[in-house]
Amino acid sequence: MYISILGRQPALGIAELERLYGDVTWFSDESAIINTPRLDFERLGGSQKAGRIVAELPRGDWTAASRKLVSAYAQAWREREGKITLGISSYGFNANPREVQKTGIILKGRLKEVGVSLRLIPNSDTALSTATSHHNKLGLSDNKVELLVVRNKNGKIIIAESVGAQNITAYAKRDQERPKRDAFVGMLPPKLAQTILNLANPAAGARVLDPFCGTGVVLQEASLQGFKVYGTDLSDKMVDYTTKNLDWLAATHHLTIDSIIEQGDAMNHRWSDAIGAVACEGYLGQPFSAPPSPAKLAEVRKNCNYIMGEFLRNIASQLASGTPLCVAVPAWKAADGSFTHLPLVSQLESLGYTPVPLSTVRSSELLYYRDDQVVARELLVITKN
Ligand SMILES: C[S@@+](CC[C@H](N)C(=O)[O-])C[C@H]1O[C@@H](n2cnc3c(N)ncnc32)[C@H](O)[C@@H]1O
Repeated sequence: MYISILGRQPALGIAELERLYGDVTWFSDESAIINTPRLDFERLGGSQKAGRIVAELPRGDWTAASRKLVSAYAQAWREREGKITLGISSYGFNANPREVQKTGIILKGRLKEVGVSLRLIPNSDTALSTATSHHNKLGLSDNKVELLVVRNKNGKIIIAESVGAQNITAYAKRDQERPKRDAFVGMLPPKLAQTILNLANPAAGARVLDPFCGTGVVLQEASLQGFKVYGTDLSDKMVDYTTKNLDWLAATHHLTIDSIIEQGDAMNHRWSDAIGAVACEGYLGQPFSAPPSPAKLAEVRKNCNYIMGEFLRNIASQLASGTPLCVAVPAWKAADGSFTHLPLVSQLESLGYTPVPLSTVRSSELLYYRDDQVVARELLVITKN
């Protein structure tokens, strides 16, 4: 059993986990329990950290959690060889960073008495940032440990040993060092591309299609996970960008990528190879820095709905029944925080698709946006009928 500390948009993070692992439940507003013998943390886009659950307390506060930690680890590590590096991250407690750190200091003292040396990562906050966890390589070897201590609103406490934090160095490299980037086409963060791919959840070895491939972020992530990829885009320039970016990925990450990249209009293209899954960020219309006028919004919404609707209609006849898709489409955020959706979002059945039922979230919660963004991405998780 594992616990995930979910990312900035917890609904996306838990939906991704449910698609991949099935038996997933909320523990608190920011964490989820995953009932699986093995968690592949590196492939998750929507989890900040995850840990193997080692203990549970039915109720308690930080004092109770602290006592449990100190007694358990003073015992477990009394014969440890080599120096231990320890970080403690607490979530959902009414404790300040000094109290969290004090637990580590007490444990360090207890271990010192038996000749075991421990380096404690200072807590500037009650939880270590993912950057701190990542840079200290916590969770990645036996002697570099991060304890995740999570309390939910009923007072239940879970203690877990981290198996890693988001690899921000690798994400930055994949995002910023690739040779071709295009601010106009948009900057799909690799983390979100991973989540889109995982929500589609292709079968092992499948060929993953992105029919709006742009600079190829989704296909990069799919290649890293070992899928065959297929990219098409209306723009020849984007076909060239995806090709060059995948060549760069293959060379820098020592991968052999099985790819087909060609120009095509998603509204009428005939794809030449069997498609195992579709994972894409579709046409999002123009970017806005402030909510558009009602007339402008109506125009952009109609245009996007036409392109994405015609794409779904066109590809439906080319997909085997049961093929999974995750398609990001635009939704526009108004000043009051409400969203205007594409009409097709409520017409998926008539287009030949079935929304994938998820028990942890409603499909309307699968929206990715930053506070300052008007155009959100709505993730449609569907299968071909
Ligand atoms: C939001 S961008 C996708 C960016 C992409 N996720 C990336 O990694 O760069 C949308 C892409 O759809 C393409 N596009 C627009 N209309 C299209 C159509 N009818 N058929 C295929 N591609 C289209 C654009 O050229 C653009 O590259």
